[in-house]
This record gives sequence, C-alpha cells and structure tokens, in this order.
Amino acid sequence: MCGIVGYVGGKTALPILVEGLKRLEYRGYDSAGVAFVDPGGIRVTKSKGRISVLEHQINCSEGATTGIAHTRWATHGAPNDVNAHPHVDAAGRFALVHNGIIENYAALRTYLSNQGVTFATETDTEVLVQLIAHIYDGDIERTVKRALREVRGTYGIAVIAADEPDTVVAARNGSPLLVGIGDGEYIIASDASAILSHTTHVIYLGDNEVVRVSPDSIRTTTLDDIPVTKDIEEIEWSLDQIELGGHEHFMMKEIFEQPDALRDCMRGRIVPEEGSVHLGGITDVARELTRAKRIIMTACGTAWHAALVGEYLFEDLARIPTEVEYASEFRYRNPIIEDGTVVLAISQSGETADTLAALNEAKERGALALGAVNVVGSSIARSTDAGVFLHVGPEIGVASTKAFSGQVAVLAMLACYVGRRRHMSQGGASEFLTALSRIPEQITTILEQDGACKAVAAANISRENWLYLGRGYQYPVALEGALKLKEISYIHAEGLPAAEMKHGPIALITDQMPVVFLATRGTQYDKIISNIEEVRTRGGRVIAIATEGDQQIERLAEWVINVPDTIESLQPLLTVIPLQLIAYHAALLRGCNVDKPRNLAKSVTVE
Ligand code: G6P
Repeated sequence: MCGIVGYVGGKTALPILVEGLKRLEYRGYDSAGVAFVDPGGIRVTKSKGRISVLEHQINCSEGATTGIAHTRWATHGAPNDVNAHPHVDAAGRFALVHNGIIENYAALRTYLSNQGVTFATETDTEVLVQLIAHIYDGDIERTVKRALREVRGTYGIAVIAADEPDTVVAARNGSPLLVGIGDGEYIIASDASAILSHTTHVIYLGDNEVVRVSPDSIRTTTLDDIPVTKDIEEIEWSLDQIELGGHEHFMMKEIFEQPDALRDCMRGRIVPEEGSVHLGGITDVARELTRAKRIIMTACGTAWHAALVGEYLFEDLARIPTEVEYASEFRYRNPIIEDGTVVLAISQSGETADTLAALNEAKERGALALGAVNVVGSSIARSTDAGVFLHVGPEIGVASTKAFSGQVAVLAMLACYVGRRRHMSQGGASEFLTALSRIPEQITTILEQDGACKAVAAANISRENWLYLGRGYQYPVALEGALKLKEISYIHAEGLPAAEMKHGPIALITDQMPVVFLATRGTQYDKIISNIEEVRTRGGRVIAIATEGDQQIERLAEWVINVPDTIESLQPLLTVIPLQLIAYHAALLRGCNVDKPRNLAKSVTVE
C-alpha cells in the first residue's frame, strides 16, 4: 500500500528518501516519486514501476536537504507517471504526497476549477495540493490546516513549499505517520522500516494532528492549532531483523524464522509446569475478559484465518461463545454488542483500515476492545483498550507466514489464560502449555522437509486448480494453505471443510486436480480418510499432511509430508508450515515475484 517518506535536516535528502522508499517496497506499490526544494522552486521526478527505475532518473547527489517521496498503490486514476506522487500545484510552488482517500475531492475539484485552477491528473491528491496553493497565506503549516479542515476522508500527508525550503509539514487522519528524530534532522514516514537505519526514536502522529519539522525544531498541534505534547518512543526492531539474512526472499526468511519468532512470542509468557500464562498487556482487563459472555474476533485475510483457529481454541479451552467476523462486514452491519461482549481485532500490521474501523465501531457500542497485533505503535494497537503483541518481529513478505503462527500462538495463550480462570484445571493447562512450548522445535523438523515440499510443488506445477481440505482445527489451515498458493503463485485454489466437498466441489475432481488433505491424527482422522478415498476414487491426486509414523496415509496418498505429533488444538501451528513451503516453491517455479505479488499490498490502509 502507499508509503510516505519525508526528510529535513543537514544531509542531502535524496539518498535518504530513496533508501526509505526501498524499505517501503514490501508494502506493495505500482509507481514512485520524489520532490525536493531547490533555489528554482520544487523539483519532482516520478515514474511508474519499480523504485530502481525512479533511481535511474534522479541525480542522488543533488544538494537539496528537504524533500518528500512516495510509493503509490493506485486508487483514483491509473498507475502511471502522471498520477504518481508527489503532486504539485499548477505553479509548481508546493508538492504533496498522500496516503488514503479524499472522499469529497470531486466537490473540491469543481470549486477550484470554477476559480480557474487547471488540473494535470485524475487524482484526489492533486486536488489537495491545488487547494493548498490556492489558499496559501505565507505560512505552510497554517495553510495545510486550513485546507485539511475542508477535507473529508482519510489521509497521511507530507507537504513542502518552495517559499519555506527548510520545512516539511505532515498530517494524519486515519493513515499512519511517524516522525523519526535524528540529530538535527527529522524523517517522516508511514512505516518505521523507512527510518530505522537513521534513528530508533520516534513520535507517532495521532488522528487530526499536524507536525511541522525544520532542521532544528519540531512542533505538533491539532488541526485546530492546539499544541500537543508527544512522547518520544523507541522502536524495538533492528535493521538486521528487516534485512534478508542470507535468504533469497523475505517470505522464505520469515517461514524459516518461525521457530525463533514463536519463542520470542511466548518468551516470559508461559510457565508450562505451573499451567500459568502471563500476559502483561491484558492484566487490567483480566476480570472483564474472564467474565465475557461472547467474543467477536475481527480481522482480514490471513489474520481472519488465524481468528478461525482462535474461535475453536476459545470455545474449547475457555468455553466462551466466539464468533469470527470479516472486519469489512462487521463494520457496516449493525452489530449487536451487549454487556459482556469482547471484540478482539487481529492484525499483523495494525493498520488494516477495515479492521481498525471494525474495532472502533465495536468500541463506540461499548465493547471491551482488545487487539492481537504485531506492529507496536500501530493504529490498531493504540486504539485498543488492552491487548497482546505478537512479538514475531517485522514481517516484510506480502504473503503472511510468521504473523499467522504468532497470531495462533497468541490466541492459544489467551484462550488458556481465560480458560484457566474459568474452569480449566492446572493439569489441563499444564499439558496444553507443555505442548505449546514444544511447537518451535517441532517446526524446525518440518522445515527440514523443504525439499519434499518443493517436490510436491514441482510435480503439480502445471495444474491450474487445487483444493485444500481439512476438518475441525484443520479447516482454517486449509483456507490459509489455499490463500498462500493463490496469493503468490496465481494458481487458483480453494480451501474447504473436508465434509463440504461432497456438496459441490467433488464435481471438480479429476486426475488434473491436486487435493491437499490436512490429515493429521485426531478426533476426525477416520472421516478424513474417507474423504481421501472419495477423492482417490475419482482420480484426484492426493497430497497429505500427516502425523509422523502414519503408515495408512503412506498407502493412500501420492505425496505425504509428515509433521510431528501434538495435541489437536495446536496442530495448525505445524500443518501450516508445509503449505507455506509448497506455495513458496510453486510461485518460484512459475517465475512469480514471491515478495511482491501482483496487485497485492502488505498493509491495506484503504477500504
Ligand atoms: C493484506 C495482506 C494479507 C494480510 C491482510 C490483513 O491483504 O496481503 O497478507 O493477511 O492484509 O493484514 P493485517 O496486517 O491486518 O494482518
């Protein structure tokens, strides 16, 4: 999704801006651009496609020390050079980058056109910079505020003005922005990864806040000009954590990081021998959560699949009625929130617009609003009443892998935490947590089967349609496996509860159809075996994810990937791993860009 970088300070701005853009590449984009102030006015370079294309068009030794830059993911207007950001006013005195959507841009455009302003692009963003130019009163901060008071919509923006060459003004409403604080310099960014090589000290802008930075000063105010005192916070992630570390792709790095990521996620939080869970972020609401009458989990994409696992966990362990809702549906439905309803938003980025809006909707209706979020300081994390961070480190690959595992692990800890306070015995909790604590080492043994996963992908690479089937706890994993495959390899795949196959999808099965079965040992094992037989009878090609030592499966499936044994409720943490690896290899074998799949964004900050 769109990314913003801005710089003001004593250094040459362009290399810092371009480096920042590169670090934002993972979020997904279709064009990029930079603008800086030089004695002649504002200079802008922008181009469709990769940042490397843009880099070739600019002279990074250009001496300007103030500038803004952007990666765009088209919403209004096609992805091309003209519509790329930064946008400038007709006289070229102001440049602006923008994430989000100006909802009333058509009305503003008509108003400005009637005043004689001519437009160069189809974008909502150009309307805003033209408005700023039209009403400029000699003070860019004051003017930006006046302009924003006319705007309806969501935005994170950064603006520069030719007449105020040492200043960047940035503002936020619904789209993340932070300011990195260096020594005599400030870097504005929509995502911490863009500033980490320069500083770990940041302030996070809140909604309706405006910041003005110059080399020697920073000032934050509300849109109505009331000063705001901001805390300087420390970013925990290191640059090493967001670099490739010897892997070819971030996705592969993140798949292989899962044992360590889960150890980090659980560190200090569980004591298996005592059957106890310690989650500092929810201590203050423990009583309310324990007495909850109903839990609604809300999320999008992979996080929604993790939530489905969470639903099973919460009902099994905590015995609280739990529902899972797509955030995009929940926010517009007229949801019933009664006393005792707890809403839990699950999100890697903490910036997904629908999830944030769903959470706020629930809060307004009186629900206790909790979060299970990876990015500290993100919008969702800051909007919740309480929550649990995933602590799995930065996830850069667009296809989510370690965040899924972290989300499931957090939900497992949370369900056990609440379960223990309701009716779970110490012994039961101890058994559950012991199994959970063994998951990281068990994942390591699955990762050793990377070659076997690659062989499955290679043998089926020409097939255009795949099915993924699972029952109970494995049903969400089937959905996640199918999503991984389609996201990055562009092969059509569907995930289903295995029993549903006979209500339609069985008609699709031929010898051209690979069917991935989540067939680990558990309460529904025999039923899954029957489903496998049904597929075999129709010539389908069976790929089984099975429990180590299962000889029956060896006889039934064409390909078998083994996972170690664990309790049924934690099997998703193991069975998802081979599915991630199969998707990764399928995408590579098809020549796809694994980390930057077409049309997808890492963090979807628009509806
Ligand atoms: C996008 C990403 C998915 C992710 C979803 C939710 O669609 O491509 O990988 O699962 O957003 O993201 P979140 O950051 O809220 O977990």
